[in-house]
Amino acid sequence: MSAASGTLPAAPVIAIDGPSASGKGTVAAAVAARLRWAVLDSGALYRVVGLVATRRGIDLADGEALATLVGELDIAFANGAVRVNDKDESAAIRAPAVAAPASRVGAVPAVREALLVVQRRFRRPPGLVADGRDMGTVVFADAELKVFLTASAEARALRRQKQLGRASAQDFNGLLAAMRRRDERDRDRSVAPLTAAPDAVVIDSTTMPAAAVVDQVLTLAGRKGLRGAASAPATRARRTPARASSC
Ligand code: DC
Repeated sequence: MSAASGTLPAAPVIAIDGPSASGKGTVAAAVAARLRWAVLDSGALYRVVGLVATRRGIDLADGEALATLVGELDIAFANGAVRVNDKDESAAIRAPAVAAPASRVGAVPAVREALLVVQRRFRRPPGLVADGRDMGTVVFADAELKVFLTASAEARALRRQKQLGRASAQDFNGLLAAMRRRDERDRDRSVAPLTAAPDAVVIDSTTMPAAAVVDQVLTLAGRKGLRGAASAPATRARRTPARASSC
């Protein structure tokens, strides 16, 4: 990825942060579709770095090597696919084994620094819905609306289990433990830790269907005067393997 200026074009941002499997990706995609805004799945960027670093045998704590790697990666979101140096890596970055490396490289300050400008480039009119861990606290700290989406660890593990199509209790317990480890690392890191911005609206989705969360976010957006580019038909919230964006 090439360097970019740090200036932010004037476009509104809705930041949706939260722990893994809290439903933020599903909600962000649906809200963006309803508003006809772009969407940024920032976790996909960390997943790409974790995936490629693992493949190349790069030490996941080596900031210098990882920052160099980020500079060599051309990451593009197009038609629901994530392409890395012109290769479709949509399925590869979603593999369960990529979650931990993504979280580990996310704890490296040089990686976060290198990805900062990349993420800010997605901010374009008519607006951007960005999901991740630090959208409201760091990347788009001036976002017009900030949402922190939570759910109990059990509810999140159950969602992830359904997504993966697994059924056994052992798988559930394994998923729950892995998710807790990842959340802990994301929360406890020294840079841009997973936390709600002081001005974020916290939504607990443990017992809420995704469509209800989407409606709540759209209501909050409406109250802030954030409107869609054009009136779009209602869509059901559904997670796609990789989300498209205008970038
Ligand atoms: O949202 P996700 O599960 O695809 O993210 C994978 C990992 O990437 C997550 O565990 C931590 C890291 N990440 C991050 O550090 N900051 C973000 N804004 C998004 C993701």
